[in-house]
Amino acid sequence: MEKVIYIKNLNDTKKLATSLAKFSQKGDLILLNGELGTGKTTFVKAFSKALGFNEEDITSPTFTLVNIYDSPVKLLHADLYRIGSGADLFSLGIEEYIDKGYIALVEWAQYLSEVPEEQTLTLTLEFKDINLSHERIVTLYTKDPLWKQRISQIEI
Ligand SMILES: Nc1ncnc2c1ncn2[C@@H]1O[C@H](COP(=O)(O)OP(=O)(O)O)[C@@H](O)[C@H]1O
Ligand SMILES: [Mg+2]
Repeated sequence: MEKVIYIKNLNDTKKLATSLAKFSQKGDLILLNGELGTGKTTFVKAFSKALGFNEEDITSPTFTLVNIYDSPVKLLHADLYRIGSGADLFSLGIEEYIDKGYIALVEWAQYLSEVPEEQTLTLTLEFKDINLSHERIVTLYTKDPLWKQRISQIEI
């Protein structure tokens, strides 16, 4: 199932993240595909804020690769940029955290060699026109029955 959302500005990206966060459950995997500057980190920060985090505490894991948070909820934030193509959730230890009930958000997920289907929602963020514009096209894609139900209710 695919759902395309037209984003007109930064606030729309935050609204989308907030509404998805409200539907999120333990063990969810949210894959964020998209080039530099499309808004992946912005999405993760707004998502985390909706779960009760201080936005400033969520820092981009560009160098650490994976950041783990245990409070107020179990959350994992990864950035595969430095790994590049062939990245693997199992060898990075991410799968283990998902199994433990962490909600996992993964930036640059287009680099993953394999993508699980269960509890997985994939967001593809694209610039609509030129890079300087605030407009984005976000495509939500899932094969998971529960996510299908959840994204059918998403509105921004
Ligand atoms: N609609 C939008 N959604 C997200 N970010 C936007 C939007 N419009 C402009 N921006 C800007 O684009 C940049 C996105 O950066 P970031 O979230 O770090 O992207 P990424 O993690 O994908 O590289 C930020 O500076 C943000 O203010
Ligand atoms: Mg980023």
